[in-house]
Amino acid sequence: MFALEFARITEKSAKKMVVVFAENKTRLTPAAQLVDDGLGGLIKAHLKQGRFVGSMGEMQRMTLQNQPISTVLVVGVGKQDGLARKDWWGLGLRVGKQLDAMGVKEAMIALGDLAEGDKDPTTTVQAGTALIEGLHMGLYRFERYKSELKDHMQPRFQHLTVLTSTRAARFLEAAMPTTLATLAGNDLTRDCVNLPPNVANPQFMADEAKKLEALGVKVEVLDEKQLAKLGCNLILAVGGSAAVADQPRLVIMKYEGAGKDAPYTALVGKGIMFDTGGYNIKPGASMRGMKFDMGGAGAVLGTMRALAQLKPKRNIVGVMPCAMNMIGTTPFVMDSVYKAYNGLFVEIGHTDAEGRLVLADAIGYTLDKFKPTELVDLATLTGACMVALAGGYAGLFSTNNALANALAKAGDDTGERLWRLPVDDFYTSKSSVADICNDSAGGWGGASVGAAFIKKFAGKTPWAHLDIAGVANIEKGCVGTPEGLTGATGFGVRLLVNWLLGSTPSLETAPASGKGRRGRPRKAEVTSPATAKPRVPGPRVLGADGQPRGRGRPRKVVA
Ligand code: BES
Ligand code: ZN
Ligand code: ZN
Repeated sequence: MFALEFARITEKSAKKMVVVFAENKTRLTPAAQLVDDGLGGLIKAHLKQGRFVGSMGEMQRMTLQNQPISTVLVVGVGKQDGLARKDWWGLGLRVGKQLDAMGVKEAMIALGDLAEGDKDPTTTVQAGTALIEGLHMGLYRFERYKSELKDHMQPRFQHLTVLTSTRAARFLEAAMPTTLATLAGNDLTRDCVNLPPNVANPQFMADEAKKLEALGVKVEVLDEKQLAKLGCNLILAVGGSAAVADQPRLVIMKYEGAGKDAPYTALVGKGIMFDTGGYNIKPGASMRGMKFDMGGAGAVLGTMRALAQLKPKRNIVGVMPCAMNMIGTTPFVMDSVYKAYNGLFVEIGHTDAEGRLVLADAIGYTLDKFKPTELVDLATLTGACMVALAGGYAGLFSTNNALANALAKAGDDTGERLWRLPVDDFYTSKSSVADICNDSAGGWGGASVGAAFIKKFAGKTPWAHLDIAGVANIEKGCVGTPEGLTGATGFGVRLLVNWLLGSTPSLETAPASGKGRRGRPRKAEVTSPATAKPRVPGPRVLGADGQPRGRGRPRKVVA
């Protein structure tokens, strides 16, 4: 948790620890230059002596004596002109990780106004929010089970001041509710995915969803008996061999911001709380880490949390089929045939291809009950997708170009990149005894084969499938993963919120500029851990709702 403040940048506003950006050793960003002017050129003089070249994310730390600024962290940005929102996020991640490693309590970031002279604050707002997102995510730690965290190892960062123009500060402040709600959702996802499977079982996901009722989400949890009555036989086939306490749950979260009669957008997430592979058991090294196989469900949960806090005028249903893929006394085996919720007969060709099975029932149920105008599913579905794209992109499969393009654009903004892959019908694995088979259809093109199976259950509804196997969790040695993240990434939350709300929705609500509030610092607070009971946001209340506080007389920034 850290407090946030926005203040006007001047030659003298930076104090104590300040982060500045530089293109190379002689060219600082205008904001950094202002700070350097205040220091009489000490930053540039220091850079000249070292090896700093200004490449993206490169960092150089300098300590000053007898100055109001004690430490400067110079961060390379390559060419500032070409920086997109996702680049600022990437910088934020690294800076967050660095501040955590340095053990500092507070810092200022010299952002400035990136569109100086220009009336449009969008660039600065996007850069600032992305920086804050990255910083928060870089500072994230999952240490619930570290019983002996020494004092010096405790998280310390508490206070961030973003130095910018007065006008941009106002817009940034107005953008904070969206940013902070999204981050709270992202934290929740990361916590759920990081939690071990003996804690995070299907009922755990149901309990976490129930907590969203405090924010106005309607939650329904179907247990194994109700699932049997409904005919969700695929979810039961996968999850039926787990212990009684770990039996499957279908969790349905309804957020109705547009009223009962308006159409729904549906989000469905694979929630395999642990994937042993079943009787097609995974070798030990491949099974390790399979607690993250609920990253899709985690992303849906986190997104619903963010939406419930932001209260957009939309109807969104989030569905999580949660199960454990185990070997027990009532396992499912190859060659079996099950009738899916939608009536299709499915032959089991591989018990480790369980994700598409639980999604098939969940999607069938969602289409039947909610008739959504579009459906997006997220799943850690295939190793093949990871082989193709590593940690750099999630696979995007879709029957609808407009939907696919909108999602790709949203992900490009947030740094959760998507790469479109084919999902033609010829990828569908055929069965000699049933309507369809869940095997690998010969082994090639596994990501498309998995997607084509799901497509069969999406029917005519505009549908997109995100295979997040390579991006939901940071794998060591997996190229393309963002630097500064560890463990679960929360992939999908920021992307989905961005897609559902539009890229900078808060600009619409930003106050008019130039109303004589120059120099006033603005505060908000990032709260976590997200698994804590969500607080109901109230009007102009400080907290995870991101409403600004500190109305009143202008005052100096307290560093
Ligand atoms: N959860 C896995 C997918 C996975 C594998 C994610 C490796 C990340 C790393 C999924 O349930 C699975 O095992 N898929 C099989 C499908 C195959 C048996 C058709 C796979 O990818 O090998
Ligand atoms: Zn599997
Ligand atoms: Zn799986």
